[in-house]
Amino acid sequence: MDDRRTQFLLSEKELPQAWYNLAADLPFPVEPPLHPGTLQPIGPADLAPLFPMALIEQEVSTRRFVDIPGEVLDVYRMWRPTPLVRARRLEAAIGTPARIYYKYEGTSPPGSHKPNTAVAQAYYNKKEGIRRLATETGAGQWGSALSMACAAFGLECSVYMVRVSYEQKPYRRSLMQVYGADVVPSPSPRTAVGRAILEQNPDSPGSLGIAISEAVEDAAGHADTHYSLGSVLNHVLLHQTVIGLEARRQMELAGDYPDYVIGCCGGGSNFGGLSFPFLADRLEKKGQTAGGKRPAVIAVEPSACPTLTRGTYAYDFGDTVGVTPLVKMFTLGHKFVPAGIHAGGLRYHGDAPLVSALYKHGLIGAAAHPQVAVFEAARLFTRAEGILPAPESAHAIKQAVDIAVRCREENREAVILFGLSGHGHFDLAAYDALLNGTLADYEHPEEELRRALAELPQVPVAWPAAGEVAAGREGGG
Ligand SMILES: Cc1ncc(COP(=O)(O)O)c(C=O)c1O
Repeated sequence: MDDRRTQFLLSEKELPQAWYNLAADLPFPVEPPLHPGTLQPIGPADLAPLFPMALIEQEVSTRRFVDIPGEVLDVYRMWRPTPLVRARRLEAAIGTPARIYYKYEGTSPPGSHKPNTAVAQAYYNKKEGIRRLATETGAGQWGSALSMACAAFGLECSVYMVRVSYEQKPYRRSLMQVYGADVVPSPSPRTAVGRAILEQNPDSPGSLGIAISEAVEDAAGHADTHYSLGSVLNHVLLHQTVIGLEARRQMELAGDYPDYVIGCCGGGSNFGGLSFPFLADRLEKKGQTAGGKRPAVIAVEPSACPTLTRGTYAYDFGDTVGVTPLVKMFTLGHKFVPAGIHAGGLRYHGDAPLVSALYKHGLIGAAAHPQVAVFEAARLFTRAEGILPAPESAHAIKQAVDIAVRCREENREAVILFGLSGHGHFDLAAYDALLNGTLADYEHPEEELRRALAELPQVPVAWPAAGEVAAGREGGG
């Protein structure tokens, strides 16, 4: 084989035909979501006003593989399979004996991994006769992905965009509008939640939690409208496994297997999507083993929003107001307001229940990095590899660079795979801050974290415990 090979590409014919469902292989039970009013486990009927039945079924499915519908594959074909790249120039810049690979999701039309689930969600809603989808967006990656997916299937799309981003980051908004979406600054007078907040504070900058509350209220109040979420839920992570399924085949083409699999983690969807097909190897189920391979899997988060590394494993709401079901997750508390770092997609108080349970059981590790170091790693990457990463993705780069540096110091070979979840072409204001020296780090004091956690909802019933395990190491046990 040509030992200078840099790109490992699959043909359109090699697009995965089914998503991988990690729930089939979990060696422990995951606690059920609870109704926000009764605090009892929710059933399909509770979710029906918000989601189509096909997605509700996927949410609770334990089938190992779920077929990808032909109509979804037809849209995926516009940019999938995505490239796996050997970062030879980054390796040289670091001077490491480690071999570094990245799976690049920035080649999708809106520029991130988010359309992998947006397209699937739009398809199932259209099939069920839904006319419009409502959702929230922070900086706009998710909103633009869902707007594109709705355009592909002829659905209307309403995006509640956090007001401060709506005003300060107008270009993602423009992209959504070109796709045909109706973009509303949140809090808005359209919903009771928005009106109540505006009454108290007409200048409210909004937050992701408030925007979720508004989108859920909109969907619940209109029979022809459903809600769509871009992360956290099981079905979202399921759709994202197309990333890891491709990456596994591409690593075979490269003749390598990762010792480390790294992803940035906001709600956990690109991290889960890349890592779950490799975690299947760790779980050592029949037919899923790769010769006893046990990759260390690391979720990377900002020090300013350290859900896994400093949060608590508890039932909590998904939104600020408390209208969504409660899920068991690592959380900083639904009232927690993370500092205004540039990686807007990582500013979420919780993590996906699946990612949280894996961490609790020691099957994955986690790390947190401050933003100045993250952007420095992004600059190193851009100079070496040419791609300007999204600030979120840069967290994975930072972790990969740290491990590669350690390999250099220890004169140790290792294979590192990280997810490059999106490009940063709409995030140049953040890079400007790096260049002009105004980028700052922030760590929330312990007292502030304690205060937010004190507002966790009290759940009186003890649902089956996940079991006590060690957590907190890099790479899992
Ligand atoms: C490029 C990019 N990467 C990562 C994330 C984090 O989301 P998740 O953890 O669901 O992958 C976001 C969220 O907006 C994003 O835009």
